[in-house]
Amino acid sequence: MSAVSLAVIGGTGVYRLAQLQDVESHELDTRFGKPSGPVRVGTLLGHRVAFLARHGEGHSLPPHLVNYRANLAALQQIGASRVLALNTVGGIGERYAPRTLGCPDQLIDYTWGRVSTVWESDAEGNVGSEALHVDFTHPYSPMFRSKVIAAAKVTGAALVDGGCYGVTQGPRLETAAEIARLRRDGCDLVGMTGMPEAGLARELGLEYACLAIVANWAAGCGDASEITMAEVLANVADASAGIAELVGELARG
Ligand code: HPA
Repeated sequence: MSAVSLAVIGGTGVYRLAQLQDVESHELDTRFGKPSGPVRVGTLLGHRVAFLARHGEGHSLPPHLVNYRANLAALQQIGASRVLALNTVGGIGERYAPRTLGCPDQLIDYTWGRVSTVWESDAEGNVGSEALHVDFTHPYSPMFRSKVIAAAKVTGAALVDGGCYGVTQGPRLETAAEIARLRRDGCDLVGMTGMPEAGLARELGLEYACLAIVANWAAGCGDASEITMAEVLANVADASAGIAELVGELARG
């Protein structure tokens, strides 16, 4: 098995990195169970990169049923120490119009009922680890984020630097009033998969950053009276065109 240093988790509309060459597929099992699908390891611009589709390659897993722990553990098992998470999101802030790419630096977790820690209790109900309360002041690794932004500069990909990602439970989209509340809370983006993934990555000691792909104006933000999956998928396809090049550049450093 080839070791890799960079892994990419694809979100809605990104189920493969077509540019990967000499691909090996790994069906992995982890202490948290099976990941969403095979981990595809291939060469991109001379570097070995791992790819995993968060929702499964046929998009069979909704956000609340993804085994986020197994996904991250599988990528770690294959040798990745850095994870670039692609998250399809709705735009709330003006800077985040549909088809924009963004690299948020903050998040607010509105999800509930998801397994959100790698720490499990023993038979007596004790977790007993000094590492239990990991620091999460900056939820995305500042160093890795700066590399993502630098890579985008090299490849010429327009990338909005910063912003707050509000993570909702889904799988339904939000009401206009819910989005108005998120805006008041300071959220610029809304999606359903940013957590617990970012928190688990921190617990596992992975360097983790989010590359948000804005698929639509969030509910009540644009002119449209509703959000359609057709719009979401078309905009993601459009906005993802330069991602492989950016990932290749990131894999170099
Ligand atoms: N809300 C939540 N998740 C999303 C959206 C949205 O508007 N668009 C794509 N994923």
